[in-house]
Amino acid sequence: MARGRFITFEGIDGAGKTTHLAWFRDRLADKLAPSGRTVVMTREPGGTPLGETLREILLHQSMDLETEALLMFAARREHLAQVIEPALVRGDWVLSDRFTDATFAYQGGGRGLPRDKLEALERWVQGGFQPDRTVLFDVPTDTASERRGAAREPDRFERETEAFFTRTRDEYLRRAEEAPCRFSIVDSTQSIEAIRKQLEEIIAAL
Ligand code: TYD
Repeated sequence: MARGRFITFEGIDGAGKTTHLAWFRDRLADKLAPSGRTVVMTREPGGTPLGETLREILLHQSMDLETEALLMFAARREHLAQVIEPALVRGDWVLSDRFTDATFAYQGGGRGLPRDKLEALERWVQGGFQPDRTVLFDVPTDTASERRGAAREPDRFERETEAFFTRTRDEYLRRAEEAPCRFSIVDSTQSIEAIRKQLEEIIAAL
């Protein structure tokens, strides 16, 4: 069977990507079913037993900024080797709730880690490997913070300032501008119906 495809969902906390992930997975699975392919849904940081352990640490324990970036990429290496690459080789499609763009946005944009360091880690961990499609849920930071306000006990990132999320959002948008063929930007202030329509088009194009 031909190699599967790798799709990632991105956006700042409160952008609403989680609301759309399960729906997108189900629609994609329906479309793929006749070909015998399945959709593997996963997330970062996490997606493997070791990755989920690292996620717990990353989301709840304070640490040096570079340690944070290194752990994100360590979890990613494991994720690629154990889950993503084997699934794509089998011909299945992989849908990941966040991937490397999140590291550039959060650790790079948000926390200010120089981009060249992240690029070096990216090359080391994934060579030239990139998602086939990245759906970026974009929303103004004040809207996102209102949405986050309703959420359960916030983690270390969700407690960050509005300025942090503005830098994170800007970096996401900058990356989308740099790779327009890979990114689809979804205006996440739209209604759920309007967003689903756009997601349907993205699936059709894939
Ligand atoms: P998130 O995906 O928002 O999950 P939940 O919906 O359960 O809160 O949480 C993951 C957090 O990790 C999010 O705040 C962004 C952060 N993160 C980074 O800072 N860098 C990364 O490379 C990744 C993958 C995530």
